[in-house]
Amino acid sequence: MTPVGPRPTGGRASAPERRPRVAIDGPVGAGKSTIARLVAQRLRSTYIDSGAMYRALAWAARTHGIDPNDPSRIAALLDTIDLRLEPQLDGLNRVFVDGREITDDIRSSEISQLSSRLSEIPAVRERMVALQRAMASEGGVVMEGRDIQTVVLPTAELKVFLTASAEERADRRWLELRERGFEADLATVLSEIRARDDRDSTRAHSPLRAAPDAVHLDTSGLTIEEVVEKLLAIARERSVIP
Ligand code: DC
Repeated sequence: MTPVGPRPTGGRASAPERRPRVAIDGPVGAGKSTIARLVAQRLRSTYIDSGAMYRALAWAARTHGIDPNDPSRIAALLDTIDLRLEPQLDGLNRVFVDGREITDDIRSSEISQLSSRLSEIPAVRERMVALQRAMASEGGVVMEGRDIQTVVLPTAELKVFLTASAEERADRRWLELRERGFEADLATVLSEIRARDDRDSTRAHSPLRAAPDAVHLDTSGLTIEEVVEKLLAIARERSVIP
């Protein structure tokens, strides 16, 4: 499994200083992906969508007909597939399993729920965390997920915990699904969001939590641009960026 891809070059190639790592976590629909992608563009950093890796595994498990209740077979599957996450210069993370592009296929509700279930498996998390750390080893990344600030990159230069009300998050998710061509019922989206919130934050291994030194930002009622500007202001205040 080799998540690699082109990295935007920020500044002079000879610049020796380490570029910051920004960890953005929060529940589904808090705006993490859009905000992390825009912040990465502004910082000329690489945006990494860690959830896409769990989704790719879920897609592979479903495609190979592997029982999600069998943790050892799921972990073994992860060792045998070639899972690639390719961050693009425009911020999109293209996702491949064994050479087949599944970037759009992993966004269905079914894959959302399955990826949340598989992410509870400790052996899966251990492997994903190792891969994600390797991707951030040179700095210059904005990585988004559930355990980035607590487990994957606890020494990230900036840790941000994004939240929003469940209703607002359901509205956003519903719109996003429709834009991607998936039919969805708002009440179902809201109950699925609550189910995933519950599972993601109560699981035994690496539950969704803010780091003690995280910046908390409630995005309810804010535009995307307002959130991005707030985050960049905080990064400047903390000397994470000039
Ligand atoms: O961010 P997302 O909705 O695409 O993530 C899909 C699932 O993967 C989510 O329900 C929980 C899991 N996940 C995780 O456990 N840890 C991460 N760092 C990212 C995602």
